[in-house]
Amino acid sequence: MTAIILQCISKSFGTKQILSDASLKIQQGAFFAITGASGSGKSTLLNIIGLLDFPDHGEYFWGTQKLSLQDKSCHAKIRNESIGFIFQSYNLLGGYTAKENILLPLLYSKKKKRDTDRFNQIVSSLGLNNILASNVNILSGGEKQRVAIARALINSPTVIICDEPTGNLDAKNATGVLEILKKENDNGVTIVFVTHSSDFDKYYSEKVEIKDGGIQKC
Ligand SMILES: Nc1ncnc2c1ncn2[C@@H]1O[C@H](COP(=O)(O)OP(=O)(O)O)[C@@H](O)[C@H]1O
Ligand SMILES: [Mg+2]
Repeated sequence: MTAIILQCISKSFGTKQILSDASLKIQQGAFFAITGASGSGKSTLLNIIGLLDFPDHGEYFWGTQKLSLQDKSCHAKIRNESIGFIFQSYNLLGGYTAKENILLPLLYSKKKKRDTDRFNQIVSSLGLNNILASNVNILSGGEKQRVAIARALINSPTVIICDEPTGNLDAKNATGVLEILKKENDNGVTIVFVTHSSDFDKYYSEKVEIKDGGIQKC
């Protein structure tokens, strides 16, 4: 099954065209990497894939469902129920504990009833037991990113969108993040991973590059 298809997507900011007639197909269960020069449109594309932003033109298929580009409530439903996000800058809620941050997506999801088993399993597999009560402001970069990953996983997403999630980490912590994502991918979760580096090429099932507004296979 195909998870996500974008067909002839265009996106401009003002007069600046970032994506022009770009197309891609992400298979369900892929570990799909997107690379490209700084400013080439990687985050723009990822925001469109993750239904955080709209293309100006083009078609978006979520599985077999063609999405209306304007239907924000449909996008929000898919996003909240099926997509997890991990960013380079962690995007945690400062002043709150690790546990509060991890549980945050449940506030926006239909899966309101907390699945304690799922929570415990994620927390222990990411080695977060000892820092659950800590304010996230005092955590190290590696710890923050593991909290962010736990938050991305709590809703059992079918797709995880990652925007340079290892960009602020040392090599050991970066490899740890890739290994965690690989385990999810082995369980059938689709990973869409924006990266600058070729350090982790062995993890990817497919890699594409954004160039001159288009998307080409590497
Ligand atoms: N919301 C926005 N408004 C105006 N310009 C933007 C916006 N978001 C991104 N851009 C511009 O679009 C281009 C691509 O940005 P981005 O997708 O963040 O690139 P990348 O992630 O590959 O570094 C950049 O020139 C950036 O300044
Ligand atoms: Mg970016």
